[in-house]
Amino acid sequence: MAVLPILKLPDPLLRQQAKEVTRINGELQTLIDDMAETMYAAPGLGLAANQVGVVRRVIVFDVSHREGGPRDLKVLLNPCITAGEGEIIREESCLSVADFSAEVRRHARVTVTGLDREGKPLEITGEGLLAVVLQHEVDHLNGVLFIDRISRLKRGLYLRRLKKQATAG
Ligand code: NI
Repeated sequence: MAVLPILKLPDPLLRQQAKEVTRINGELQTLIDDMAETMYAAPGLGLAANQVGVVRRVIVFDVSHREGGPRDLKVLLNPCITAGEGEIIREESCLSVADFSAEVRRHARVTVTGLDREGKPLEITGEGLLAVVLQHEVDHLNGVLFIDRISRLKRGLYLRRLKKQATAG
């Protein structure tokens, strides 16, 4: 298992629509294991394959570890949000968006269907933090970042700061 480098904005791979997983093979299992290690090492609550430069519909997440519990790694291939209700506003950050966090409005409860790492159908219903993480990670697979869901003003300020840092470096 390996900790992979995490791509950061403005890397164009973060803006790509990830492709469906069609083959469950050893290469995919290695990717999943590496993504999990990368997420725990960061540390983060979730990680999408785009973030390690693989434009495939794979997400890993674990919201229980953060709350002091044991690791409870979840893997979803080809995740699809099939139901969403309610509203929640939570402060979000992202391993691919350096030095920034902001409040984002999302569904308070979602149901996501997909496949587990063996290719068996899996349905996960989550609320609160889990709902936020699921929506955040599925967004990644569609090339969407949480900064796309905040006001244009706040996003503009952040992107200008990012640009300045890039030229200053
Ligand atoms: Ni993220």
